[in-house]
Amino acid sequence: MKRHLKWALLCGIGLVFSAVPVRAQTTATPQQSAFAAEGERTCLKCHDEQKVTPILQTPHSVKGDKHTPFGQNGCESCHGASPDHVSRKVKFPTVVFKGPNISPVAVRNEQCLSCHQSGLRMNWQGSQHQTNDVACTNCHTVHIAKDPVLVKFSQPEKCFTCHAEQRADSFKYSHHPIREGKVVCSDCHNPHGSAGPKLLKEFTVNETCYTCHAEKRGPLLWEHEPVRESCLNCHTPHGSTQARLLIQRPPYLCQECHANGGHQTQLLAGQNLAGQIGANVRMMARGCVNCHSQIHGSNSPNGTFFTR
Ligand code: HEC
Ligand code: HEC
Ligand code: HEC
Ligand code: HEC
Ligand code: HEC
Ligand code: HEC
Ligand code: HEC
Ligand code: HEC
Ligand code: HEC
Ligand code: HEC
Repeated sequence: MKRHLKWALLCGIGLVFSAVPVRAQTTATPQQSAFAAEGERTCLKCHDEQKVTPILQTPHSVKGDKHTPFGQNGCESCHGASPDHVSRKVKFPTVVFKGPNISPVAVRNEQCLSCHQSGLRMNWQGSQHQTNDVACTNCHTVHIAKDPVLVKFSQPEKCFTCHAEQRADSFKYSHHPIREGKVVCSDCHNPHGSAGPKLLKEFTVNETCYTCHAEKRGPLLWEHEPVRESCLNCHTPHGSTQARLLIQRPPYLCQECHANGGHQTQLLAGQNLAGQIGANVRMMARGCVNCHSQIHGSNSPNGTFFTR
């Protein structure tokens, strides 16, 4: 532990002196001799194992790039300076990411953040995942040629291990095509933290939806107030038993806000446009949106009522 603290301190000093996340330089100073002189080759002498070596095919192993672990202190850039492990005085290196001897979450995350604090991770501190002790390595796998969480088809499975409700939603009658591999969680969320609600990538729900459904952004001649306010007034993002990801089926959906008599409510009483009891044209098929087809707003001069 003591050794780790010393090492962490070293990194801190390294960071202060360089804007880019190049940490301890390879030119030997007395303190830095704690790192194995031959870098990753020292470790690979014993760890030439199938569960370890795939890392050699990843961006982390680009030796010519001073920003990568292999461009710095090799395996120890992540596992910490571990001379006592190399000499087999202790069973494990300073930082362990897996198994019964796993290091505390904060220690593990600190290793990754020493190089990855900026960019997408600008809002990591205080984010829902950080404050709930989720580790970088709960989502990321590094000893593998391609990290599954970075691949469209395999990303949702990672998230579903902890988010069972969203897994259930993905099976519902109407859902964003996540299961089909066309949309991923990280199209809408930034799992590293966000300035908006619910880890959304944008500041608001609507801005997030507009990134793909741009035609809903407008500007429109006739706006439907609840659409501008929030798409979630009528839709649910992950999955619904109603068509079109609706929270409820028309006419009930509309009648939650429009129940001022007239044809808005007569639909339920089974009356037609003239108020006669009988076959009700407005009840047919999709109900209200049969006529109010431009429900998200209209650009037609005569579109006041969203019928065109
Ligand atoms: C002399 C051989 C040897 C060298 C050199 C060596 N290790 Fe190990 N390492 C082992 C053995 C053996 C184990 C299994 C631990 C045990 O149960 O005793 C181990 C365990 C580990 C573990 C934990 C694995 C687990 O399943 O939990 C990690 C991580 C690790 N070593 C990383 C490193 C790193 C990084 C280096 C280089 C700084 C390194 N090792 C150098 C022999 C070595
Ligand atoms: C010594 C600095 C350093 C450390 C420590 C480090 N990384 Fe990296 N990482 C890099 C660099 C440099 C790249 C490649 C440049 C890029 O694409 O951004 C990279 C790339 C990545 C990528 C993208 C990989 C890809 O296939 O595109 C992920 C994910 C990642 N790192 C996660 C982690 C995690 C998780 C940890 C901690 C276990 C970690 N990194 C530790 C420097 C580091
Ligand atoms: C809840 C899951 C999750 C956690 C926790 C997580 N990540 Fe990620 N990470 C992702 C996903 C998903 C992507 C792909 C994002 C995208 O494509 O927009 C990603 C992408 C990355 C990348 C490559 C893209 C880039 O920024 O250049 C790096 C590096 C990275 N994460 C580092 C980290 C570090 C460091 C931590 C811990 C502080 C961390 N991640 C925690 C899910 C996670
Ligand atoms: C970018 C950070 C990083 C680097 C560099 C790195 N490791 Fe790891 N290591 C991890 C993480 C994270 C895990 C947990 C499993 C995973 O993500 O693949 C791990 C797991 C291990 C394990 C346990 C494997 C298991 O499946 O039980 C061993 C052994 C190990 N590393 C050795 C090494 C050796 C040897 C090197 C250098 C060749 C190295 N590591 C380089 C982050 C790193
Ligand atoms: C190791 C478990 C774990 C994994 C894996 C995980 N999460 Fe989470 N996530 C949590 C916890 C714990 C919280 C905070 C408590 C809560 O709101 O459920 C959280 C919160 C969230 C929230 C914010 C909820 C809110 O109410 O503000 C979103 C969005 C989210 N996660 C998305 C993702 C995505 C996307 C992935 C995959 C890239 C993912 N999570 C992977 C555990 C996890
Ligand atoms: C099309 C955009 C979109 C996609 C794709 C998406 N989400 Fe969400 N997610 C949202 C929105 C919008 C909210 C906010 C819901 C609210 O406030 O009621 C949300 C909320 C959440 C929450 C918080 C739930 C709550 O009730 O507070 C979690 C957890 C979550 N998402 C996880 C995921 C996971 C895991 C995936 C991938 C399987 C995913 N999301 C994919 C848009 C999306
Ligand atoms: C990453 C792009 C993307 C984002 C962001 C996105 N969507 Fe979608 N959305 C899609 C795709 C792709 C489809 C499926 C289109 C198809 O099947 O023709 C879809 C379909 C829909 C549907 C119709 C579903 C059905 O069953 O026919 C609704 C409603 C919808 N999205 C609402 C939203 C809302 C609300 C948001 C914001 C919370 C949002 N979308 C954000 C890509 C996105
Ligand atoms: C007042 C309720 C309401 C609000 C608010 C709303 N929608 Fe809809 N949306 C509907 C209804 C009803 C349908 C089904 C229309 C149909 O069946 O023809 C629909 C269908 C859709 C569809 C699939 C058909 C199409 O028009 O492409 C998408 C995509 C969609 N909405 C996106 C959005 C987005 C994005 C927002 C926020 C900007 C939003 N909706 C806000 C009621 C609403
Ligand atoms: C969350 C509440 C809400 C929901 C749900 C809702 N609306 Fe609206 N709607 C409003 C508000 C607010 C206005 C603008 C104020 C007004 O004129 O009543 C409006 C205006 C309208 C107008 C134009 C009225 C006028 O006098 O200009 C029509 C037509 C309309 N909505 C139809 C629908 C239909 C059809 C649905 C169901 C698909 C629906 N609305 C769902 C809140 C809602
Ligand atoms: C057969 C076509 C048709 C159907 C079905 C229909 N409407 Fe209308 N609606 C209209 C027309 C046309 C107007 C324009 C004013 C008028 O003629 O009453 C209108 C006007 C409105 C208005 C503006 C205020 C008012 O009452 O005049 C609202 C709100 C409204 N409709 C809501 C609904 C709701 C809610 C439903 C479903 C329960 C619905 N409409 C079903 C054709 C229809």
